[in-house]
Amino acid sequence: MTIRRCRPIVVLTGAGISAESGIPTFRGADGLWEGHRIEDVASPEGFRRNPALVHRFYSERRQKLDDPRIEPNAAHRALVDLARRWPAPVRVITQNVDDLHERAGLGVAGAGELLHMHGELRRVRSLRTGRVHPWSGACDETSIDPETGECGTLRPHIVWFGEAILGTETIDEWLADCGLFLSIGTQGAVWPAAGFVREARERCAAACIEFNLRATEISAWFDDCVEGPAGRTLPAFVAALAEGGSPEDFRAACDIARRAAAVGG
Ligand code: APR
Repeated sequence: MTIRRCRPIVVLTGAGISAESGIPTFRGADGLWEGHRIEDVASPEGFRRNPALVHRFYSERRQKLDDPRIEPNAAHRALVDLARRWPAPVRVITQNVDDLHERAGLGVAGAGELLHMHGELRRVRSLRTGRVHPWSGACDETSIDPETGECGTLRPHIVWFGEAILGTETIDEWLADCGLFLSIGTQGAVWPAAGFVREARERCAAACIEFNLRATEISAWFDDCVEGPAGRTLPAFVAALAEGGSPEDFRAACDIARRAAAVGG
């Protein structure tokens, strides 16, 4: 099976792509998100109940992004490489709220397009005006809206459970026009992202490949699943796809990626 190089590529990324950079994934074995129940820190009700806790939770995560040990890994860089080398657009939809894709250079100087569908840690939003502001460091109930000067009206710019995702129109356009769909490091447990693979298949007959440590809840929808750490499998896949002996044969590229995972041990 081949893919046409004139067709765009859509990539969906999840917490797994940042795991090798030292950012924990959401669904740990204990079902908690860094020690908290998800409904306490990722729902509008949780924020209404205890805004101080929710602000603290996201402030800690935002500040952690400044830790010099947290850096983009080889998988983030591989996507930039793909965007530079693929002749058609490479469009990345990320569920991640960290900034590792952009720090790797994605979406910069023509290297692909990037959409944060679940928001961004480095931004806050006014509860009054709905406007979004860049933010660094801590944010709490005493923080001042840089635009209105009001106190206590800011919330994290994060899509919580029960809230609408960001960029729906753009995502809809992208999923209607792609020859290859890649899903990297996501469990497929959260909608609508879990349904993107089906859309790409049904709306534009895209070839669909999953990269994950292991099979997920949506693996059956993919043409091929490459198991292993994305920091090893993705660079090998991209190199094979972009310049391999038979660049249009994505299955050959998947086999090369699998071998890279096996060699890494
Ligand atoms: N390489 C590839 N995949 C990996 C790696 C790795 N190095 N490490 C972990 N994974 C995989 C795990 O096997 C798992 O399938 O990444 C996935 C992470 O799953 P989740 O923690 O559920 O994260 P994600 O799918 O991104 O969550 C989606 O849920 O809580 C909400 O809004 C939040 O954006 C988040 C959404």
